Amino acid sequence: MSAQTLTEMAVEVLSTKDGREKTALSRRHAETWFAARAAGRDIPVGLADPPLRPARPDRPELLDPRDVPRRRPGSPQGRLAILHAVAHIELNAVDLHWDIIARFGHVPMPVGFYDDWVKSADEESKHFNLICDCLEAHDSHYGALPAHAGMWRAAEDTASDLMGRLAVVPMVLEARGLDVTPGMIDIFTKAGDTRAVEAMQVIYAEEVHHVAYGSKWFHFLCGRHDLDPKEVFHDLVRRYFHGALKPPFNEEKRAEAGLPPDFYWPLADEPTAKG
Ligand SMILES: [Fe+2]
Ligand SMILES: [Fe+2]
Repeated sequence: MSAQTLTEMAVEVLSTKDGREKTALSRRHAETWFAARAAGRDIPVGLADPPLRPARPDRPELLDPRDVPRRRPGSPQGRLAILHAVAHIELNAVDLHWDIIARFGHVPMPVGFYDDWVKSADEESKHFNLICDCLEAHDSHYGALPAHAGMWRAAEDTASDLMGRLAVVPMVLEARGLDVTPGMIDIFTKAGDTRAVEAMQVIYAEEVHHVAYGSKWFHFLCGRHDLDPKEVFHDLVRRYFHGALKPPFNEEKRAEAGLPPDFYWPLADEPTAKG
């Protein structure tokens, strides 16, 4: 039996630098959590003090998004750049899911809340590894190219607001993944890169659930505080998200994930937050 609480496990993942080590630990902790749940001896959530920013490897170099070189998506170099950017997003997502567990341990939530985010963290860990395998199949690796700095901004901005975190991370950022993934699958299908297509299909299928968990627990908290979900969602996204939501939206997958059009269309292409 593990002596660690769930939030201690989360902090351990957040404090691990290397990507493959971080995801291996993340998957082991998820297995421990679910084995305990199945055996009817739940691991306590506990309280922990997560780092403000997660530990990350020395490479990739993190650059301002404006300084990350752009490559033609049709070229082999362009496709490598897409894979590298996706690996970076997945590693960030691993940390985001453990961070929501560690950061908000003081907010009493049903155990299903933790089940959902542990499962999501486990899936993001798998996604990172799948995409790293694709990079390595092309003689590259995560860290070979520069990556976007500032991916952790949404976490810092919402570090003391659980509803803000749910609104911005799963319901805006991960929902955006549903909009753009089919286009990436097309690019790799045209290039005949079966390994990348299969990896992205796994990601596409599983990301719907992460958005759905966000929507579920956002609505749960609205119910707890007797708030109108749509109005609060608009307020929180305007407060914490820097930029407008960009159509076209994947309305079908968003609906499947419990995101109705009147949540996101009113935020499309309107300037939000302080920039
Ligand atoms: Fe993912
Ligand atoms: Fe996700």
